Formats: sequence, C-alpha cells, structure tokens
Amino acid sequence: MRTTLSEREAEARRAYDAVAETYAATVPALFAQDVCGRAIIAAFAELVVAGGGGPVADLGCGPGHVAAHLRGLGVPVFGVDISPATVAAARIAHPDVRFELGSLSSLDQADGTLGGVLSWWSLLHTPPAERPAVFAEWHRALAPGGHALLGFHVGEGQSHVRDAYGHEGVDYTIDLIEPEEVAAELTAAGFEREALMRRPGARREQACLLVRKPRRRP
Ligand SMILES: C[S@@+](CC[C@H](N)C(=O)[O-])C[C@H]1O[C@@H](n2cnc3c(N)ncnc32)[C@H](O)[C@@H]1O
Repeated sequence: MRTTLSEREAEARRAYDAVAETYAATVPALFAQDVCGRAIIAAFAELVVAGGGGPVADLGCGPGHVAAHLRGLGVPVFGVDISPATVAAARIAHPDVRFELGSLSSLDQADGTLGGVLSWWSLLHTPPAERPAVFAEWHRALAPGGHALLGFHVGEGQSHVRDAYGHEGVDYTIDLIEPEEVAAELTAAGFEREALMRRPGARREQACLLVRKPRRRP
C-alpha cells in the first residue's frame, strides 16, 4: 500500500487500532441479526458468482465477518483494512480468508481483475472531495460486469464520534452520505446503478447502493 496516509486515514487507523478488540467482540453479532443487510449482500454475492469474475475485495473489512459471510455464500473474497490491529483480529477470527493491510483508495490489484468491491460502512472515513478518485480506482480494478456494493449512514455533513465503542479519548469524524449524491458520483466514474435500499437505523437512516461496471463502456 501507499506509505503515506491521508489525515483521515491516519485518524481511522489510530481509532480502529484502539478499539479493534471491542469492535470484533460486538459488531459481528449485530451483523448476524441484520437480515436486510445480509439480503442485499446475498444479491451482490449472486451477481458476482453469476458474473464468473474475479474475487471480491471487502474494503474496510473490519474484523472480517462480512468477508467470511461472503465466502460462506461461495464467493472468492479477501479483506483490506487500514488498521493493523483490525487486520490481525480478522486473521485470527477467520484464518481461511486472506486479509491485507491497505487502503480502499489505492488497491494493490491489476486492472479489470476484481469480480466485486464491497465497502460496508467504510466510506464514512473518506472526505467527499476524495470520493471521485476512490470510485475511479474501484472502476479500474473491477472486471467489466463486476459489481460494487456500498453501505453507509445517510445524511449531510459530518458527525463527530467521541469515546468510540466505550474507549475514552478515542474520537474520530465520519462523513454522512446523501445516496443520490454518491450515486451521481459513481455514475460519473462509469458505473451503472442497479439498486438502492434505504432503511431506518438505530440512530440515523442507512442506505445500501449496488452499482455495476458495464461490460462495454457507454
Ligand atoms: C465502521 S468500520 C466497518 C467495518 C466492517 N466493514 C463492518 O461492517 O463492520 C470501518 C472500517 O473501515 C476501515 N477504514 C477506514 N478508512 C479506511 C481506508 N481508507 N482504507 C481501508 N480501510 C479503512 C477502518 O479501519 C474500519 O475497520
């Protein structure tokens, strides 16, 4: 991966290194109860397998539970995360899945080789101004016909998280995302929109957006 991190990447790395153990002990159990989230991931998995393309890159994979779930659905998958402690936790929890230290903004992947890209609540650490370059990178790495699935908190502006996951002094900023705005950015990067799911969340609305890289460029 790149040797220099952006300010927000460094902030995310520090925070998730600090909370890695607590995160791994709490969030995977919530995912196990998230029927609607797993339903759209199942649709994504089916599309990737039917496309017969390369593996899925789970970008900002956390402790690896979503990657492991995809693997259980028959999808070749690997995880990437900016936090070394999180990658270590993922490797321990799921030794049969490959996890790498890296950034969702620069993939160690040849052009057109991924069957899918998953960003499940990981884009919230990327400033909006940097998203077009990130989407161009995903488009580059995806095979024609490959899919990208994004899950995120809906809203405008930023929210500041203090004492994350009960860890005093672990603070970070997240960017809330307007679904139509990010959909337009993905279209500008060359993707075609396939599905958008919006749903109420515990504290704020959530959205999952599924897009596809066309088999032939429009
Ligand atoms: C809210 S957690 C989501 C983790 C997991 N996808 C899940 O659903 O539980 C955000 C994750 O994204 C990672 N992350 C943040 N910025 C990143 C970046 N630029 N590149 C790769 N990973 C990043 C963090 O380290 C953290 O593990």
